[in-house]
Amino acid sequence: MKMEQPVTTSAPAQAVSPRKWMTPDIVRQAEQLLSRMSLEDKVGQMTQYDWGFNPINPETGVSQRDLLLEEIRQGRVGSIFNLSGAEEANELQRAIQEHTSQQIPLLIGRDVIHGYKTVFPIPLAQASAWNPDLARRTAEAASRESLADGVAWVFAPMIDVSRDPRWGRIAESIGEDPLLTSQYAKAWVEGAQIDDGAGQATASCPKHFAGYGLAEAGRDYNTVDLSDHVLREVILPPFREAVDAGALSIMASFNEVNGIPVCANPYLLKTILRDEWGFEGIVASDYNALQELIVHGVAGSEEEAAERSILAGCDMDMHSGFYMRHLPKLVREGRVPERLIDESVLRILAVKIKLGLFEQPYVAIPPAEAAAEARATFTELAREAARESIVLLRNEGQVLPLRKEGVSIAVIGPLADNSKDPLGCWAMDGNPADVISLLEGIRQAAGAEAGAAIHYAEGCAIDADGEDGFEAALEAARQADVVVLALGEALEMSGESRSRTSLDLPGAQRKLVQAVAALGKPVVAVVLSGRPLALPWLQEHAAAIVQAWHLGVQSGHAIADVLFGDYNPSGRLSVTFPHNVGQVPIYYYRKKTGRPPAGVYSSYYIDSTTEPLYPFGYGLSYTSFEYSSITADRTSMSANGDLNLSVTVTNTGDHEGEEVVQCYIRDEVASVTQPLKKLIGFRKISLRPGESANVTLNVQSDSLAILDQDMKLTTEPGDFTVWIGPNASAGQTITIKVVE
Ligand code: NOJ
Repeated sequence: MKMEQPVTTSAPAQAVSPRKWMTPDIVRQAEQLLSRMSLEDKVGQMTQYDWGFNPINPETGVSQRDLLLEEIRQGRVGSIFNLSGAEEANELQRAIQEHTSQQIPLLIGRDVIHGYKTVFPIPLAQASAWNPDLARRTAEAASRESLADGVAWVFAPMIDVSRDPRWGRIAESIGEDPLLTSQYAKAWVEGAQIDDGAGQATASCPKHFAGYGLAEAGRDYNTVDLSDHVLREVILPPFREAVDAGALSIMASFNEVNGIPVCANPYLLKTILRDEWGFEGIVASDYNALQELIVHGVAGSEEEAAERSILAGCDMDMHSGFYMRHLPKLVREGRVPERLIDESVLRILAVKIKLGLFEQPYVAIPPAEAAAEARATFTELAREAARESIVLLRNEGQVLPLRKEGVSIAVIGPLADNSKDPLGCWAMDGNPADVISLLEGIRQAAGAEAGAAIHYAEGCAIDADGEDGFEAALEAARQADVVVLALGEALEMSGESRSRTSLDLPGAQRKLVQAVAALGKPVVAVVLSGRPLALPWLQEHAAAIVQAWHLGVQSGHAIADVLFGDYNPSGRLSVTFPHNVGQVPIYYYRKKTGRPPAGVYSSYYIDSTTEPLYPFGYGLSYTSFEYSSITADRTSMSANGDLNLSVTVTNTGDHEGEEVVQCYIRDEVASVTQPLKKLIGFRKISLRPGESANVTLNVQSDSLAILDQDMKLTTEPGDFTVWIGPNASAGQTITIKVVE
């Protein structure tokens, strides 16, 4: 069995993207259109607005939307986002066809991050499946649903490597690892960019390019300061994968890199994206990011902000209106060459041509039965994705799986009878009425037919101090053989601008756990959160801990599947769980330092361990797996060679189960400091009780390459320690050598 091929670290100044979608035919069509356009028409294409932003001017009584509609009719808008469905999309496309001379359809966008109407698990949860193909399928389903509503441009995937659970947007990410994020990036782009077979297609928009996930102190939009090594080794590889997978656009992030906010940063937008990677698609700014150049203090006026952005390589202005207001004049004054405008517009037109918008600007409203049928398939997929996203963190005394028959279960907590929060942070189009709550999931799985007695009490609110509900919760627990505690965060506590300084359970939840646990009944804690929480104390009160994230519409069914053993949990963390907030950022891909933790005058804390609560890659199963020692076909290779390593993994328990076999390396001595461990490949395997599988990893010299002092990608001779095992803190080891 072969492991996944390792993804090569992004190399500067190397081959351009293999995915060249801009064919001569597309270019010809775009150029023809371009030749008929006035300067204002062109800048209109570079202008995008938020249709959902609709304040009414109190003095004139005129709404923003009326003004926007007028702009659209005058051909001064190329893209719109935040519309509310197919009819509205068709209406605006009609305004273009009926009122503008060029009749260039709108590119209609939307944040389709983890599903559209069918809401899937948040990306951080989907990442726990260590199954990029699953993300490909959820992304595809989401694009099918959104395209049916006229949304041809999905602002996804979010592929910011994220190491800080305080940052609310970690929920939208794939977690902390460049390789895992890269594999998801590729699959997600491929899944999200659909062709409906009837002439319409969608574009993805990987974001946020780049470094946005490293906001200082986990505070959203905060300063980012990163070295070129971290940029190129950690942050950029997922974007490179996304570009190579054929992403038709990319979103420039809010943050600065080397002191320059990205939409004004030619190093990122030109040197790396266009010159090194050969990216052909649209670079869009993030929301109002041109305006923020003024707030950052790198532009003194709207005009200057527009000038810096276009000169840096930003094709489309999201919502600030600066391009429309200032670019024509800047061109006429000779401050901006018209050639740059033409290049940007050509890219935008090329994407519109590629998506089939000129042939079919309108979407057909499907008959109700067809829509319902599609929905049912997506709902099934939502359950599959949700089950695979769940991570079992603790299971003392094998309290899980629970019996269904003849058992009395107390279901307690603010996330139990709750069908809103499992929707997660980006579910604008989701509907709580479609969500199966945990209580409902348990009732359906074990209640009526199986005959378990279910006693429910809310106990307390998610984020309030009141303890009035405790007594009812204790009463429910007293009647039960086992208590399921549904704890966690509201959906508004993660996502954009939702940073937290505490990683504890909010409100009175901790006290509720303590009060219930004091009864001495077995407690199963299910944590529904948008981020890793630091809950070391929970281990003292709960025999089992299930990390269930915000899992989308099938949340309750999926969790019940795991609780009752209808599905054997297979999720593994894609992000390190800390003991406390003071350890953050804590991630496995860290450097050794000159003084690794070892007590006084070493890199340690006087009041906390430096170890994680749960390491990257960690997760339990209802069965157990054993790894044999690693065998090698040879233990040395040349700087452009390869070798094969194998382990035998055996299911030593009595349930069928899935294991994620992970392979990490460390370059023991290199010219530039290297991480203590680096994931270079993984494989998810399924084994029946007693079954063994031989897993072979083909280690290629590329996956041992580093960026040296001159930023050259090179495989240096010397020893490499390799681990193959179940997570970043365990595994069998072997030493291999690269020889001159
Ligand atoms: C700002 C966010 O950073 C970005 O992810 C999103 O796509 C835009 N707003 C549009 O909603």
